Amino acid sequence: MGNNPDTGKFKFPLDLGAPVGSLEGRSPAVDNGLDIPDPSRYYSREFMEKEWQHLWPRVWLIAAVTADIREPGDFTVFEHGHEEFIVVRQDDGSIKAFYNVCSHRGNRVCQVDRGTASSFTCAFHSWEFGCNGTLNKIVDEETFNKKLVGHRPGLTEVRCETLAGIVFINMDGNAPPLKEWMGLPEGYLEAYDIENMNLVRHTRSEWKSNWKTGVDTFYESYHLPHVHPQTQGAIEEFSQIDLYKNGFGRMIMWFGIKSHRHPVEHERDLDEGVKVMLRDAGIDLATYSGTVADTRRDIQIAKRERAKRLGLSNYERLTDGQLSDGWITGLFPNVQIGMHAEGIFIMRFVPHPTDPDRFFYDNMLLYRHVDDPNYAVPAWMAMPDGIDVTGETRPDIERWSADESPGIGPVLIQDYDLVAHVQRGIKSRGFKGPLWGDQEARVRHFHREVDRYIKGEIPPANATEGTDR
Ligand code: FES
Ligand SMILES: [Fe+2]
Repeated sequence: MGNNPDTGKFKFPLDLGAPVGSLEGRSPAVDNGLDIPDPSRYYSREFMEKEWQHLWPRVWLIAAVTADIREPGDFTVFEHGHEEFIVVRQDDGSIKAFYNVCSHRGNRVCQVDRGTASSFTCAFHSWEFGCNGTLNKIVDEETFNKKLVGHRPGLTEVRCETLAGIVFINMDGNAPPLKEWMGLPEGYLEAYDIENMNLVRHTRSEWKSNWKTGVDTFYESYHLPHVHPQTQGAIEEFSQIDLYKNGFGRMIMWFGIKSHRHPVEHERDLDEGVKVMLRDAGIDLATYSGTVADTRRDIQIAKRERAKRLGLSNYERLTDGQLSDGWITGLFPNVQIGMHAEGIFIMRFVPHPTDPDRFFYDNMLLYRHVDDPNYAVPAWMAMPDGIDVTGETRPDIERWSADESPGIGPVLIQDYDLVAHVQRGIKSRGFKGPLWGDQEARVRHFHREVDRYIKGEIPPANATEGTDR
């Protein structure tokens, strides 16, 4: 009987010892103070309204992934609060985005989640718009005065930029360019070769809390032993925490190893979750002789060898840690991406159009398909049977309303159940505001940045090209 042999290493904050300045290295320290914010930010309509005045229209939002709109005419609709956007691949290969609003009387022009089109026809009076937003046809045009339609009112464009296979939009014509605003270190997203992954699953469920209550829950691993005890045998909850500029952040979570708190009966006492990860890496458990101290390293070695054999060249840009661990990455304001060598999952905490006590948990799962018997979808993706992972079909969005338990896997359901209780408690007169500890440094960093927007501390950037509404 004893504890994990690595216990001595696990003092918080975890420092993996990677060189400062490398993608894996620790970020410089940030002092975000010890303020205790007023909890009304989580439920008041006033704060929700301020977010719509000062935050949402000014930030870059993830609207799509390029893998979902590879061919000219491929489009997808992005919903965010009461706004909606059509993101569409152009004939020249570029990508444009438009408000999903007919210029005639405001009808939603596109009423499906995704597809391929040569033009968009509004269902109300059949005005037709090209994929580049131009107005192609007004039905009975001679019955309109030229003063109303002579300027050919097309779809209203929003700024749209792409980075590492991810498409961002910004409603603010004066916002800084995406690259300037991006808080992640240069090359961080690019290392994963996201363009060569396929969008294989897209789910959206309605959760009973404010969007920030959701972000807070996913921005720390402090809750893991308590909310997700089943992960204790296979994931270390003490993470390396990095705080980047503009509210971005990252935690590195060691996978394939017992938590330092987890008892070790004997050196071959491998957790079921670790066995699954070993198998995912292509290791034959029947012949595997490693101990609890070897598993994480052996997963890295096996994946490295397999990548060489299969010619997965982007692995050369990934550190050994990236092959085993989760690089859990926060893109301000409302996105977290679980970054893994085989795939990524993009979680968007989408504000509800009218209700501060609700948000939509939107999850896009991307996977790099490799046609080899020794390679399969990792178990952490919790992929249901029957999903096409080859990239041949574009998935529909699977949706669940607030009172349906979403089919998003056992770990995420635990978070889904939790946030409704947190939201209720936060609203009590007895709650005086969140007391964030060092393991919750990313949560504080995120709220500090939200406040900078709400309080007007971030001045508008100089005008850049692009469209405003
Ligand atoms: S509202 Fe779109 S054609 Fe009339
Ligand atoms: Fe969780």
